[in-house]
Amino acid sequence: MLDSDAVAAHPWCGPAEGRPLAYRGPHRLSRDGWTNFAGRLERGEEIALLGALAVGHRHALDVGGGTGELTAAVAARAGRCAAVEPHRDRVAVLDAMAGAVVEVHPGHAEALPFADNSFDLVLAAWVLPYVRDLRGALHEIARVCDDRDPDAAVVIVGGAPDNELVRLLNETCVPLSGEEPDHQGFLLTEAAVVFAEHGFAEFSLLRTEAALHFPEPVESDRIAVAATTLVDFWFEDHPHAAAMRHALEPALAEHFAHRPHAIGDQATVLVARPSARGPRPTTCRRSA
Ligand SMILES: C[S@@+](CC[C@H](N)C(=O)[O-])C[C@H]1O[C@@H](n2cnc3c(N)ncnc32)[C@H](O)[C@@H]1O
Repeated sequence: MLDSDAVAAHPWCGPAEGRPLAYRGPHRLSRDGWTNFAGRLERGEEIALLGALAVGHRHALDVGGGTGELTAAVAARAGRCAAVEPHRDRVAVLDAMAGAVVEVHPGHAEALPFADNSFDLVLAAWVLPYVRDLRGALHEIARVCDDRDPDAAVVIVGGAPDNELVRLLNETCVPLSGEEPDHQGFLLTEAAVVFAEHGFAEFSLLRTEAALHFPEPVESDRIAVAATTLVDFWFEDHPHAAAMRHALEPALAEHFAHRPHAIGDQATVLVARPSARGPRPTTCRRSA
């Protein structure tokens, strides 16, 4: 088990150099960009890991549930899973799976529509880069997780330092975007700090790997499709999107020379549990 200082110092939350002092602000996640991206994502290992983490829990919350792949896996293991999602089209997809084990709530991480201590498992996978108020969202996630239950857990999935997708975007698109680079380890470190303020004191870090697949046999086709997929993921309507696609082509040619049909989406998974095991300090309680 780690404490929050050890999380911050851990190489899986790196790299230490380049770690920002403040949140860069949210990425835009477009509708079509995410749909195309998600259609190429193979994430069996990640889904199996999160399903395994849900075993033994009774009522889970998936914050930023997207199109529900993880919501469904967690509901299957935990018995019940609520999903909060702000995007209208993704809420419609989630609604189609709503029923006895999945409940859907349109909303934002920054103002979760639940009472304190409502869940014994709260999951936020690949969501922190999209929230407007990082600390506000993290306080809300901690608030709705029942710290009176020693087996309760908060699980945050973010990019590992060797994440191939984030590296390609950071090195090639971000310099053309006028935005700050992404540092997913910073997001995980901030999560540990805020959860520690809420009395969560036992942290562990896990690794898992998903990957975007590009089966196109002709390399030039594959590079063009991958460039569009990556740019549309974060920069779909950006005025420099065409320049980004162009700039990605040589970087993708180099990448595919080593890994011909996939771009890794390597993840670090932060698991936070209540301390052994008193209630959190009352000064840190927060209601929406
Ligand atoms: C990259 S997707 C991940 C979806 C899902 N967690 C998964 O792993 O499949 C990020 C999701 O976060 C949602 N999102 C964006 N801003 C949010 C916010 N402030 N609160 C909660 N979710 C948000 C997006 O609409 C999107 O569905």
